[in-house]
Amino acid sequence: MGKLDGRVVLVTGAARGQGEQEARLFAAEGARVVLADVLDDAGEALAKELTEGLGEGRAVYVHLDVTREEDWTAAVALAKERFGKIDGLVNNAGILRFNELLSTPLEEFQAIVSVNQTGCFLGIRTVAPEIAAAGGGTIVNTASYTGLTGMAGVGAYAASKHAVLGLTRVAALELAARNIRVNAVCPGAIDTPMSNPEGVDPASTAGLYRKLVPLGRIGRPDEVAALALFLTGEDSAYITGQPFVIDGGWLAGVSIL
Ligand SMILES: NC(=O)c1ccc[n+]([C@@H]2O[C@H](COP(=O)([O-])OP(=O)(O)OC[C@H]3O[C@@H](n4cnc5c(N)ncnc54)[C@H](O)[C@@H]3O)[C@@H](O)[C@H]2O)c1
Repeated sequence: MGKLDGRVVLVTGAARGQGEQEARLFAAEGARVVLADVLDDAGEALAKELTEGLGEGRAVYVHLDVTREEDWTAAVALAKERFGKIDGLVNNAGILRFNELLSTPLEEFQAIVSVNQTGCFLGIRTVAPEIAAAGGGTIVNTASYTGLTGMAGVGAYAASKHAVLGLTRVAALELAARNIRVNAVCPGAIDTPMSNPEGVDPASTAGLYRKLVPLGRIGRPDEVAALALFLTGEDSAYITGQPFVIDGGWLAGVSIL
């Protein structure tokens, strides 16, 4: 028996990175998964692979730019047409740009807010009524350790991730009566195309992470997927409104040893 048998979960940014691992794990745990992204070729290929491996009707891909209201409406309609309902959402899509605040162009700031923050808001607003209509369920938002602390060089990103935690807490309060739990994952450094666009062998940056991270290594996207699974399944039935840090101990404090 899978931990998500009978569930229908939409994962944004599901074509690669953490979203891909979440889609794979959720499908393996019995969920029917709606994979949403703007990378259509990769998303279609993953949905095909999951369908071939697990059976027809287990996964579908939809083009969903999380900044566009009409894309959200269409994605929810597709999910209901294919699977009859939707009772889970993982707001995972995100973008990162490096710039100091004083040299961040307005367009760049707004683009980051638009995907990371507004995208999360639109996801909650569009999907929560459907989850409620299905009898309840879960929303997992993807923030970051920079949603809980500062990091020089990523001001717009950190601001948007702080906002995701605000949305998470308010949504948890407002949606609890509809039997919807809302939590957030706050990853530290995770080895995905976002943090490692060149796809360099993690072995070559191992020294850096040995120094920075108490557990001595960069995180893996499947480790974040396992946390998202916990927050989507019944094992977290009494948890809502919380940020969950998954960072190898980075935020625990400063070590001079
Ligand atoms: N990798 C890390 O170190 C790290 C750390 C903390 C938080 N995060 C967060 O985790 C989430 C996943 O990141 P990742 O590391 O897997 O990155 P990634 O770049 O590998 O994947 C992000 C996915 O989001 C999709 N996406 C981007 N803009 C979109 C849009 N407008 N609409 C729909 N999809 C869109 C991309 O196409 C991609 O498939 C993000 O929210 C990111 O901010 C990542």
